[in-house]
Amino acid sequence: MPFAHITGWGMSVPEPVLTNDDLSKMVDTNDQWIRERTGIRERHIARENQFPSTLGAEAALKALEVANVQPTDVDLIICATSSPEHIFPATACLIQDLIGADKAGAFDLSAACSGFIYALNMAAQSIRSGSIKTALVIGTETLSRFVNWKDRNTCILFGDGAGAFVLQASERPGGVLSAVMRSDGSGGDLLSIPAGGSRHPATEAAIHAGSQYIHMDGREVFRFATRVMASSTKEALDAAGLTVDQIQHIVPHQANIRIIEAAARGLKLPMDKFVVNLERYGNTSTASIPIATAEAVTSGRIKPGDKLVMVGFGGGLTWGALAAEWTGPLPSERKVKPQKGSALRRARSFLRRVLRFIDGLLSPREL
Ligand SMILES: CC(C)(COP(=O)(O)OP(=O)(O)OC[C@H]1O[C@@H](n2cnc3c(N)ncnc32)[C@H](O)[C@@H]1OP(=O)(O)O)[C@@H](O)C(=O)NCCC(=O)NCCS
Repeated sequence: MPFAHITGWGMSVPEPVLTNDDLSKMVDTNDQWIRERTGIRERHIARENQFPSTLGAEAALKALEVANVQPTDVDLIICATSSPEHIFPATACLIQDLIGADKAGAFDLSAACSGFIYALNMAAQSIRSGSIKTALVIGTETLSRFVNWKDRNTCILFGDGAGAFVLQASERPGGVLSAVMRSDGSGGDLLSIPAGGSRHPATEAAIHAGSQYIHMDGREVFRFATRVMASSTKEALDAAGLTVDQIQHIVPHQANIRIIEAAARGLKLPMDKFVVNLERYGNTSTASIPIATAEAVTSGRIKPGDKLVMVGFGGGLTWGALAAEWTGPLPSERKVKPQKGSALRRARSFLRRVLRFIDGLLSPREL
C-alpha cells in the first residue's frame, strides 16, 4: 500500500492589509480589545480582481514548483473553501483551468474551517488506496466578501488568503499517518451564512436582512473550539500510535490565540510547540493551516522527518486532526519550471474552448 507524502507547499495572500486601527474607524472597537481577546493585529483583504481561484492557483503553482511536479501530472484537485466563487462550477475546476492541470479531476469540499484537514485526508486516502498518484489540496478564501463590516463581533476575525499542498505516492514509509474527522450538525446555526443557498436564496428581502453575511455566536463557538482541539489531537495521535512527546509541532487552525492556549493547556504542551501566525493574517478559514505550515517550512522550523499534528474546527459544526511525518520534495531527475504569465493561461483556456467547440461539430449528434 503506497504512502501519501506531502512533497510541496505554497501560499498566496493579497497585498492590502487591514489593521486593527483601520477597523476601529469602521466599527466601535479598538486595537487593544482585538489583540487581547483574539491575538489578531492585522489581516489581508483581497482586491476586487482577486478571487479564491486566483489566490488558490498562485498557491498551487508554488506548491507544484516546490514538489517538482508538472500541473499535467496532477490526478486530483480538492479545493476546500468556505467562500466558493459559485455554487457551481466548483472553485477547484476554475483552479484546474488556471494552472492547466489537464488530467485532473477537481471538486470542492465544504466543511468550513475544518475543510483543509478533511481534504488532506481524502486526498491521502485516494493515494493510499492506489487509485491516484498525485493530488493537489488547496484551502482558499475571500471571506471578506461575506463579512458584515458593520458587525464588530465578526469583522475583526477574518482575512483572505490561500495555501496549497502537493501529495504524492511513495513506497517509502511516512507522510500522512492518521486522521480523525468529526461533525455535529445540531450546532449548525452557531456559525453560518444563512442566505445564498437553495433554502434561503439571495432575495432582496434576504439581503435587506443581511442574511448573506457570516452570522456567529462567538461565545458558543469559542466553548466548542476549546473542547475539541485537544481531544481530536489526542485521537489522531492515538490512531497513529504516537504520544504528544513524540511530535515536534502542532499546526492549529488560526482562529483565536486564546483557543490555541486552551488547547496547549489541555494537551499539557508548551506554546512553543504550536505554529502561530494569526496575528498577521487573522482567521483565513480553510487556508489558515496550509499558510501557517508553509511559513513554518519556509523558515526552517518544520524539517523533513519532523512529526506534526494539524488540527482544525469550524462551522457545521466540524472538527478534525491529522498526524503526519513531514517529507518535502521527493528525489526527481527533472526540474519543473515555474509557471508564470496570466496571458499564457488565458490563451490555453481559450484554446481548450475552441477545441471543445470543434470536437462538438465533429461528433455525431444522437437526437
Ligand atoms: C468573538 C470573540 C473574539 C469575542 O470574544 P469574547 O471574549 O467571547 O467577548 P464577548 O462576546 O464575551 O464580549 C465581551 C464584551 O466585548 C464586547 N465586544 C464584542 N466585540 C467587540 C469588539 N470587536 N470590540 C470591542 N468590544 C467588543 C461585547 O459587546 C461584550 O460587551 P458587554 O460585556 O458589554 O456585553 C470570541 O468569542 C471568539 O473568538 N469566539 C470564537 C470565534 C471563532 O473562532 N470563529 C470562527 C470559528 S472557525
